[in-house]
Amino acid sequence: MEALTKNIPIASPCFNGNEKQYLMECIDSTRLSSEGKFVHEFEKQFAEFCDAKHALACSNGTVAIHVALLAHDLKPGDEVIVPTFTYIASANAVMYCGAKPVFVDSEPDTWNIDPAKIEEAITEKTKGIIAVHIYGHPADMAPIMEIAKKHNLFVLEDAAEAHGALYNGQKVGSIGHSSTFSFFGNKIITCGEGGAVVTNDSQIAAKTKLLKGQGMDPNRRYWFPVIGYNYRMTNMQGAVALAQLENIEWHQAQRQQVAQWYDKHLQDLTDHIVLPVEKPYAHHAYWMYSILLKKGGEAERDELMKRLAKEGVETRPLFYPLHIMPPYEQLHKDTAAQLTATTKGKSYDATLPVATSFAARGMNLPTHANMDEDDVQYIAALIKENIKNLRA
Ligand SMILES: Cc1ncc(COP(=O)(O)O)c(C=O)c1O
Repeated sequence: MEALTKNIPIASPCFNGNEKQYLMECIDSTRLSSEGKFVHEFEKQFAEFCDAKHALACSNGTVAIHVALLAHDLKPGDEVIVPTFTYIASANAVMYCGAKPVFVDSEPDTWNIDPAKIEEAITEKTKGIIAVHIYGHPADMAPIMEIAKKHNLFVLEDAAEAHGALYNGQKVGSIGHSSTFSFFGNKIITCGEGGAVVTNDSQIAAKTKLLKGQGMDPNRRYWFPVIGYNYRMTNMQGAVALAQLENIEWHQAQRQQVAQWYDKHLQDLTDHIVLPVEKPYAHHAYWMYSILLKKGGEAERDELMKRLAKEGVETRPLFYPLHIMPPYEQLHKDTAAQLTATTKGKSYDATLPVATSFAARGMNLPTHANMDEDDVQYIAALIKENIKNLRA
């Protein structure tokens, strides 16, 4: 077998700060579980980083969404507006509460939830909106917040992919009523598995803290006024997360640089591919630099991914829209039928055509701090070589 010229993974964490030292401190101090200084310090500094009052560390980003929804009092039978184009955890967390995600289509350029399509999905059961900042580009928060205010809904920002992104100069995570982050191994900063709920609302913060810590009364040990969860972050996770957070500006700058290199080296391919946009209101965090094929569909996209893989470049397909996933397909059909029967004048297009069309044509390219311009040039040259003669 021929040796690969390069081997470029889709994601690659970079531990060039105090990660090892802090981890050793956990071992030496025997403080491995959640009661440790690193979790507390991480919570303090992450809240500051987000320009928010409170950050509550959790064991991962999915449970962060779950516990935040519970803190908003989401109950069985309630509905939550969720973009169809997101990672499945955004919708699953709604289901964990016994509530129902109602899927909304994307904007064609940012791929985020389309604020113009939210109101046609709102019913008397709607309690909140989950605004996901997909691949690191902030959702258009101003109209979303306005709609929420008009209908008395909460807004939860799912910022799992967008640490440090800005919306009109404001940090994502500090705009909605609550927000959640992930620190999974492929995220902008990571501690392997990890998450956080961020909020300016002291009541939401107190409820999150109670629920993520088994529901134990903070002033009375082993007294449990409610059924809670063990969703706590360990001190070892906190150690790595804090070390990563200390270098977050560097991690962000590396991604910006990679995105600029892609923009430069893919520029002459814009007849064939769509490059990511950065709206005037946005500072993109570039969790994943992602492209769309202008011609062809899923077969051609898959063929290009295969050819890149052969040359040592790992890519990922864009997320499939959630409304076609087996656990959600029937639920979505039923919801859509109810919505079209009851919405006056406005039409809810159950095919959610925008997200559906680009999910089949898009892919994430390697985006991480361990890449140099030569890697990006190599990937761009491979795309150039293959894009014109793609046949499924
Ligand atoms: C948009 C979005 N929401 C939620 C999550 C869930 O985070 P975690 O994998 O840490 O549970 C992810 C993570 O991959 C994500 O991309």
